[in-house]
Amino acid sequence: MKEELMERAAALPKVELHLHFEGGAPPAFIRGLAKEKHVDLSGIFNADGSYAYRDFWHFLSVYEAATQVLQTPEDFARLTRAVLEESAASGVIYSETFLSPEFCGGGDVAAWREYLHAIREAADAAERDLGIVLRGIVTPIRHFGPERAKRSALCAAETADDWLVGLGLAGDEKQCKPRDFAYCFDMAREAGLRLTAHAGEWGGPDSVRDAIADLGVERIGHGVRAIEDPALVERIAEDGIVLEVCPGSNVFLGIYPTLARHPIARLRDAGVKVTVSTDDPPFFHTTMKKEYTDLAQTFGWDAETLSDITRTAAEAAFCDAATKESLLKRLETA
Ligand code: HPA
Ligand code: ZN
Repeated sequence: MKEELMERAAALPKVELHLHFEGGAPPAFIRGLAKEKHVDLSGIFNADGSYAYRDFWHFLSVYEAATQVLQTPEDFARLTRAVLEESAASGVIYSETFLSPEFCGGGDVAAWREYLHAIREAADAAERDLGIVLRGIVTPIRHFGPERAKRSALCAAETADDWLVGLGLAGDEKQCKPRDFAYCFDMAREAGLRLTAHAGEWGGPDSVRDAIADLGVERIGHGVRAIEDPALVERIAEDGIVLEVCPGSNVFLGIYPTLARHPIARLRDAGVKVTVSTDDPPFFHTTMKKEYTDLAQTFGWDAETLSDITRTAAEAAFCDAATKESLLKRLETA
């Protein structure tokens, strides 16, 4: 019975809203580039070839070390293919990914345009070949500070269109406050971008309240620790704020000891719009297929429940109406 649930979960089409682009890089891909470019990255890999780090903060520095080999638009085009092949193999048909101008030209708008162009070309090719649709969300990096974030937000505002659809906020949640980035979010909103921010992963319920109040986001990256405040859960449910939940990431990083103790099912039962994503799949030893099958196994969620979550994600996607309609149609007919 469980096996059947898991098989059906694995086969379902999936929609992912929370994927850090460089965090999707398979370690072998990064090692290959390091070799080509004669960059010594031996310190960031385990003997078995996986990424090596001790905790979330060390993860952030290993992540940044890995980006050293992503030096040109062409490197990002190759990364696009590598990431989308992994996602498509999990049944993902639509993905929104966090892109950082910091790693794509250092926050310079003209350079950013070149990286973005290369990523989009590779994404178009993957859409034709693999049937997966990609859209981008610019994410300033919190621990680089508000001034550098403004440069990223400007890149986003200058390139906002039907492909570059949102602004987010990633990095170390314990550094700076959401209001320190209000200028960035105001600029992005003016440019027509949709808004999300990481909160309620390392920060408690107050961090979720602040992101909503100070940044005006309609989605929250993670947000799971809202569960510690029932009034906040009620408010999020009432306002239709969408949570980009990454269960495997949360368990791997020790926010919750096991998936069974993870609040995703309780949040959903409380009427919160929950979606499911991987965050940084090879870093956290997960895939979208694994997320879905683990949820089926742990919570007994059937194909109908998981499809409902996928539909919630499609409805919360930041893409234009026509793309969304075709996405919903694909889910309906699957
Ligand atoms: N969380 C926060 N910031 C990040 C992450 C993440 O998983 N990956 C890259 N930057
Ligand atoms: Zn994240």
